[in-house]
Amino acid sequence: MSGTPAAPRGVVHCADGVAVARTLEDESVDLVYLDPPFNTGRRQTREQLRTRRAEDGEGDRTGFGGRRYETERLGSRSFEDARDDYLGFLEPFLVEAQRVLAPSGSLYLHLDYREVHYAKVLADGIFGRVNFVNEIIWAYDYGARPKRRWPAKHDNILFYAKDAARNRFNAEDIERIPYMAPGLVGPEKAARGKLPTDTWWHTIVSPTGKEKLGYPTQKPLGVLERIVSASSPPGGLVCDFVAGSGTTGEAALRHGRRFILADSSPEAFEVMRRRFAACDGVVFREQAEVRLPLPLRERAGGEGPAAGEA
Ligand SMILES: C[S@@+](CC[C@H](N)C(=O)[O-])C[C@H]1O[C@@H](n2cnc3c(N)ncnc32)[C@H](O)[C@@H]1O
Repeated sequence: MSGTPAAPRGVVHCADGVAVARTLEDESVDLVYLDPPFNTGRRQTREQLRTRRAEDGEGDRTGFGGRRYETERLGSRSFEDARDDYLGFLEPFLVEAQRVLAPSGSLYLHLDYREVHYAKVLADGIFGRVNFVNEIIWAYDYGARPKRRWPAKHDNILFYAKDAARNRFNAEDIERIPYMAPGLVGPEKAARGKLPTDTWWHTIVSPTGKEKLGYPTQKPLGVLERIVSASSPPGGLVCDFVAGSGTTGEAALRHGRRFILADSSPEAFEVMRRRFAACDGVVFREQAEVRLPLPLRERAGGEGPAAGEA
């Protein structure tokens, strides 16, 4: 026996994300995804509900086939989302992301229509305008439709390269999607599907579906899996310094990448603890530690965990 403990596949920190990022070496990370709290000026809250079949004539709502259901309120989760100085909050995250990314590395910065334009100017200043690669529009169709304006049903994801000339983009590994008009392209192409463009149609995490963990603003695994598969190498290191429910970590595990996640909220930490409880090789830290035990320079082609092991 060598006595050397196996390197973890993932580390989850309950700590300030900038503090965690500052413990990492320069150019040691393949992909950073950041989904900072939007500057919505209100507290984000999600009620956790459970529905149970009820006797006929009882319960508080009617479902499929006229069956009656009763809703049980289990509690709620929330985090503060009102920041006077949003760009001041964001800037150290971007500075650290730029520093830790490898020369072939990528940042995906997930925002909404309220902040994206200000954040783009800030990020251009840190990454360099030439390293801005795409603005991805994640379009969904769910929730209320105000009648006084166009209902806002998209998020904006800014994709930056550390160095556009050396950026990794695994086009062959991206899951293809059906053509809108398959009759126009011939059977072979139609069967193969096409590469997604910079506009991604993807449902939100269904409030009643299996994927939902009850954390506010949980992002769909499908969106993160696309980012991880396109912009990191097998066995590479993926980081999320505002990790929430840990979607980035699950996408990383599913695609055989290692991960470091941080969130300053104990509620988020608990959600991630549960999410990864059954995953071998995921460790939990109550605070940022000075040095992380991940072999940070293990690179493309290295032995990562098999896809789908999560
Ligand atoms: C929009 S949520 C992230 C959701 C996540 N992408 C998911 O799929 O679940 C933003 C998160 O940032 C966290 N946060 C805010 N300030 C932070 C900080 N300084 N360091 C680490 N996390 C922070 C909040 O606690 C919240 O969980």
